[in-house]
Amino acid sequence: MIKINLKNLEIVVEKEIKKTDNLKDLDKIFRKYLGKKGKITLIFNSLKKLPVNERKDLGKQANLIKIEIDRMIKKKSKEFKKEKREAQLKKERIDVTRPGKKIKIGHLHPLTLVQREIGEIFQSMGFSIVVGPEVETEWYNFDALNIPEDHPARDMWDTFWLKEKLLLRTHTSPVQIRYMEKHQPPLRIIVPGRVFRHEATDASHEIQFYQLEGLVVDKNVSAANFRAVIEEFLKRFFKTDIEIRLRPGFFPFTEPSFEIDARREKGDWLEVMGAGMVHPNVFKTVGLNPKSWQGFAFGMGLDRLAMLKYKISDTRLFYSSDLRFLKQF
Ligand code: DAH
Repeated sequence: MIKINLKNLEIVVEKEIKKTDNLKDLDKIFRKYLGKKGKITLIFNSLKKLPVNERKDLGKQANLIKIEIDRMIKKKSKEFKKEKREAQLKKERIDVTRPGKKIKIGHLHPLTLVQREIGEIFQSMGFSIVVGPEVETEWYNFDALNIPEDHPARDMWDTFWLKEKLLLRTHTSPVQIRYMEKHQPPLRIIVPGRVFRHEATDASHEIQFYQLEGLVVDKNVSAANFRAVIEEFLKRFFKTDIEIRLRPGFFPFTEPSFEIDARREKGDWLEVMGAGMVHPNVFKTVGLNPKSWQGFAFGMGLDRLAMLKYKISDTRLFYSSDLRFLKQF
């Protein structure tokens, strides 16, 4: 026979509920009284052992208190949930008047920008853009350009040699040969691309850099035409006064050859280009008669032109992946 003062129990439970400050404890109280082995549940389970009249009475009371406990717990639980929600809302409040976060979008590398800009200028002067392989054969990189094996001129290009007479091209000039082998003059091309030199690096030298080769072949082409094209190009590329000077130079694939230096605002001269009139041996190599055809060629350092244009003091910055530098373009 279970003797419980049910009214008293209700007060005890009420106090317990009042003291809880979290859902977990509240759940413990629920299980303590209304769970499978809860006190009230046990009362229900014991009812069948009682005489009918007592059973009815106790059953009714137990049912009432069950409903009451249930109600109190649900109420408290609602309060907890509400508090939690309010705290969360407070924390996550969005100030819709604040300025938004800018989405970061990348952009092209300064050398790519310069390459494209130069390409457009030359295209508007009737040049086509042509590309060639970065891994070259010794023959295209040297022999075909009138630089035979053991010729001291090979020392002008410190070369990364690969296996079996292959190398990383030291200049874009081999594409002149590749193009003339397949196309008949008159022709006007530029060849942008990456080249490699096995050299010590410093502020104006890198082991890899970009060049832009040019080649014009026609019946009547002179060094004066070359000068006019290059001056027009430089004027449009720099959009400001750039001083240039031509010095006599030596390249095995041109005769005569020049070196072109450029500077802005009385700054230091920077060698930006080699050039010259296409050597008769080069024409012979690709099966053109040097008596019928003339041409000029040039090879400019893209990195150096970019340095002049943007007043960059160190070429290594282009390859440093330093966002503080790259973001400025
Ligand atoms: N290929 C030469 C170099 O990398 C540059 C050059 C000089 C290219 C004269 C030419 C040229 O086409 O005519 O040093």
